[in-house]
Amino acid sequence: MTNGKMKKKIIIGNWKLNGSLNMIENFFKNLRIEMFQSSALDFVIAPPFPYLMNVGRMIRRYHNVFLGAQNVDLHLIGAYTGEISSLILKDVGVKYTIVGHSERRMYHLEKDAEIAKKFLLLQKEGIIPILCVGESLSEKRSGNTESILMKQIRPIIEMIRNTDFLKIMIAYEPVWSIGTGNSEDPSSVQKTAEFIKGYILDNLDIRREFLFIHYGGSVNSKNFQEFIEKPDIDGLLIGKCSIEYRSISEIFSKIK
Ligand code: PGA
Repeated sequence: MTNGKMKKKIIIGNWKLNGSLNMIENFFKNLRIEMFQSSALDFVIAPPFPYLMNVGRMIRRYHNVFLGAQNVDLHLIGAYTGEISSLILKDVGVKYTIVGHSERRMYHLEKDAEIAKKFLLLQKEGIIPILCVGESLSEKRSGNTESILMKQIRPIIEMIRNTDFLKIMIAYEPVWSIGTGNSEDPSSVQKTAEFIKGYILDNLDIRREFLFIHYGGSVNSKNFQEFIEKPDIDGLLIGKCSIEYRSISEIFSKIK
């Protein structure tokens, strides 16, 4: 590890709009507790909102599995039909929440400033936000990856500068790699993770061990190891494969 201390690496399973009561039952029936206990990884499961409590009940027996959410509203309480607040997430035991996923930026037109507010709201409730950032294919081709990442991260830095933050977790997910089967090259992700850490350390008074950079985009049980072994990749955000108990079992049994 770059700071000489071991950070526990983490796998975040983003179930997106997938799952059912049957699927959840089957998933946990097939995940061996001993395999999790002996793994050096932590696991966060982010199911659709209605299943948070079901998954929360299932993971009680696992000491290294935590509950996550996929989004949060900007408001805390009141007349906001169809929304879920950080207070509600905390109430049902959520420990981590994804904000600014590229699918929310694309389909729900979420902007950096609004995403930064969500990040702060979650921090205030003691929930760890996971900020998703990443460039599109055309931005990559025109050599703009770093400037895009800075644009997406800067509002967070401004927003939390004068607050007590717990940890900063960022998931670097190149948009073109999500759900396509084309993952980014692990060495290139390592360089980008180093760049992101350098950018935050230059602009915020934070210790390196409180900074976590994850990679996401077509990670599976065959290619995950190349990413997780890199010194500055602190975890992985996995979509499609995270709903398959076989893939999850393979990943956790390989990292002791
Ligand atoms: P994927 O999704 O693993 O299916 O590419 C990753 C993500 O969107 O978080």
